[in-house]
Amino acid sequence: MATLFTLAHVTDWHATDPRGAGWKPLLGKRIFGWISWKLRRGRTHRPEMLVALTRDLDRQAPDHIAVTGDLTHIALPQEFAEAAQQLRDLAEPSRIALVPGNHDRYVRVSSSESWDRWAPFMVSDGAPDARAPLPTEWPTLRVRGEVALIGMCSAVATPWFQASGRLGDAQLDRLEALLFELGELDLFRVVLVHHPPLDRDRSSRRRLLDAPRLREILSRVGAELVLHGHRHRTRIQVLPGPRGPIPVVGARSSTDVGEHEDKRAQYHLYRIESRADAGAGRRRAVTMAVREWVPGAGCFEAEGERAL
Ligand SMILES: [Fe+2]
Repeated sequence: MATLFTLAHVTDWHATDPRGAGWKPLLGKRIFGWISWKLRRGRTHRPEMLVALTRDLDRQAPDHIAVTGDLTHIALPQEFAEAAQQLRDLAEPSRIALVPGNHDRYVRVSSSESWDRWAPFMVSDGAPDARAPLPTEWPTLRVRGEVALIGMCSAVATPWFQASGRLGDAQLDRLEALLFELGELDLFRVVLVHHPPLDRDRSSRRRLLDAPRLREILSRVGAELVLHGHRHRTRIQVLPGPRGPIPVVGARSSTDVGEHEDKRAQYHLYRIESRADAGAGRRRAVTMAVREWVPGAGCFEAEGERAL
């Protein structure tokens, strides 16, 4: 048994400060997000938690860090600049694979004032990083040894009171071709997407609208691991795949101070191992360790570990 790769999954920071932009940008949908920040999110998600998170990740030293979006509250230009600094403080761009969340597309903002700020953390291997990937450039792809990190963009501007996501047929077509190609190369395929591909919520207000097609592609072409955010809850589910079950795992927010214990900040650490006994059709095994914020200790500590 040999460890091939370690991957951390952090998500849904919402640790930016929307104050100071004046009242003009708040006219329209953003006012509701601003009220939500004022009443709740500003207290719940704290930037200081990112300092503790960075300290713990430095100690754990994963090979790569997956960040599945919602770094902002209401997608103000100043929030993109602040989150870019938070990303830089976390790790080198070559060690972070970022996909955006619905809050990062709360309303339409020009690329130069929004995702371009995050381009070095979003782009595919070998792509120029001066600007964020164009719609035709998703999914993004980073290959590290035997592991392929595939980034999906589900963030679309939605009407008021909506937090749904959509991948679109063109992106899904490209995903299918990419998964097939990477599967032929026998790489360990990790798909990153903000919205959950599997969701029990029947309301379309918050869910991934084209999740059925995503699930169909994953089940037919396969992937070895799917990671998502959005719900601020740990969820471990499986999809049937051509080489066996595909774990689909959602993580809590990594910055929640924990007013509600079941939402207290966590992040996940995956250990991908090469194993002879990994099971029929699988020559690699995955272990997921949960690290949780412990308020009394003022740091993240091991919460548990399980094989997927
Ligand atoms: Fe979200």
